[in-house]
Amino acid sequence: MNAPIDDIDRLMAVMAEAFDPAYGEAWTRRQVEDALVIGNCHYELIAGDGGAPQDGAPVAGFFLSRYGFEEEELLLFAIAPTWRRRGLGLALLDRFARSARARGADRLLLEMRRGNPAEFLYRRFGFLPIGERPNYYRGPDGQALDAITFAYSI
Ligand SMILES: CC(C)(COP(=O)(O)OP(=O)(O)OC[C@H]1O[C@@H](n2cnc3c(N)ncnc32)[C@H](O)[C@@H]1OP(=O)(O)O)[C@@H](O)C(=O)NCCC(=O)NCCS
Repeated sequence: MNAPIDDIDRLMAVMAEAFDPAYGEAWTRRQVEDALVIGNCHYELIAGDGGAPQDGAPVAGFFLSRYGFEEEELLLFAIAPTWRRRGLGLALLDRFARSARARGADRLLLEMRRGNPAEFLYRRFGFLPIGERPNYYRGPDGQALDAITFAYSI
């Protein structure tokens, strides 16, 4: 999926604010650009009013996902701190599900580290845990953290 440079700028601005540096989960601009040239990766930006952002306006959040074999995996999902707890995360998940469905997906997947409060959002939306990878991530003090895989049937 081609992305205008301005969209990548705005996505990276949210990335810089949204992810706790202690966990190293934010992607570099190069990683985002490489994913988007592959062709089966998709992104959307969301404005503070829940709609699509106007050209050049700041954005409140974004997702980046990868489609394959009737499943779409959420690779990155973030709402900037000042816009949280206003329902934008749920609205963006809804947009993710609708756009993935339009691409032919009937199941959504995501993986997160155990203990990330994002789990409350994902469960509220309807995602259910389907598996674990023990000791998959490293925490701030080098401690091992499990990865949990969640799925949602569209
Ligand atoms: C997770 C994240 C996307 C949530 O975005 P958000 O816009 O605040 O989510 P919403 O306002 O739509 O939340 C909807 C509901 O989800 C649950 N929820 C969301 N964030 C929560 C949190 N930090 N703690 C507990 N419950 C939470 C609540 O039930 C909430 O409803 P409520 O506000 O009425 O209680 C945001 O906190 C974020 O970007 N975090 C950092 C990046 C990240 O961890 N991304 C996920 C990687 S796997």
